[in-house]
Amino acid sequence: MDFSRRQCLLGLGGVAAGTALLSMVDKAEAQNPQAAPKRFAQMNGEFGWKPHKLDPKEVAEVAYEGYWYKGYACGYGCFYSLIGLMAEKYGAPYNTFPFSMLEANKGGISDWGTICGALYGAAAAFALFWGRDERTPMVNELYRWYEITKLPIYKPAKARGVEGEIPNNASGSVLCHISVSKWCYANQIEATSKKRNERCGRLTADVASKACEILNAKIDAGKDFKGALAKQESVKTCGTCHQTKGEEANWAKGVMDCTPCHNGSDALMNKFKDHP
Ligand code: HEC
Ligand code: HEC
Repeated sequence: MDFSRRQCLLGLGGVAAGTALLSMVDKAEAQNPQAAPKRFAQMNGEFGWKPHKLDPKEVAEVAYEGYWYKGYACGYGCFYSLIGLMAEKYGAPYNTFPFSMLEANKGGISDWGTICGALYGAAAAFALFWGRDERTPMVNELYRWYEITKLPIYKPAKARGVEGEIPNNASGSVLCHISVSKWCYANQIEATSKKRNERCGRLTADVASKACEILNAKIDAGKDFKGALAKQESVKTCGTCHQTKGEEANWAKGVMDCTPCHNGSDALMNKFKDHP
């Protein structure tokens, strides 16, 4: 181990803490010589906050309201409904979280249309409590559910955007771009309209309440938690060649349903020629 880094780590917090940290670092490095040393301590440790069960119905209401709060939208609404409710009921550390940070997820992160912000909000909330091995099955369950479920389902007592029925569809994709664009095209509703906002507000409530059900189930099941939804058919079949170690075509990153992008539908043909 490099001596100057050792000195720097010791400078973090007294000799005793430094020694404890050092022995951890030495152990990690002994197991994996390439492992980067831990540099910063975190309040309550990594993934160290204690999760609490919540009522999915209450979560849905708070998520819907959070979506509309100052237009902070989906990621904020979903995260705030879960962690904000824990803050309301249990105080610290939940109330120390700068919830507005999640506003960056609006429109699939600053309107880039990547991951649906509500889905990121939920994964981020899970990650306050559970590290990768335990969290991934929770994320898988939520994201697979999102791909196949006709959303939105939630009906607010009092709508903030547009009252009445809002059409629903199964997006097939966790991406904001595909989820929103397909819904708008199918229903001939403008993506910049209030009605589309209303759709996403209600969908935020649905995602948050589903995330809450998963969180509650995880608290009950602990390490034994298993989602109900199996790997998508396309990921299973395409993955045998494109996501299997040692296969010549092992190139594809990610476990999103492959179908919406690789099924050769009209929408996926070349629009840069002979197109209005
Ligand atoms: C039996 C193995 C196998 C399966 C299953 C398979 N692929 Fe492939 N795929 C290949 C191989 C091998 C290539 C490279 C072919 C080449 O170099 O022209 C390829 C190429 C591709 C390419 C890049 C070239 C192109 O034609 O566009 C894409 C995209 C792709 N596959 C997607 C898929 C999807 C989506 C599925 C599931 C529906 C799938 N593959 C299932 C073996 C497979
Ligand atoms: C959100 C859309 C989307 C999804 C979902 C998706 N892909 Fe792709 N994939 C793409 C795009 C776009 C490219 C880049 C294509 C190109 O090179 O022009 C690509 C590239 C690839 C390539 C490399 C070949 C190439 O031509 O670059 C393979 C192989 C592939 N995808 C397989 C899969 C498999 C298997 C899945 C499901 C597990 C999947 N993809 C899911 C959009 C998607």
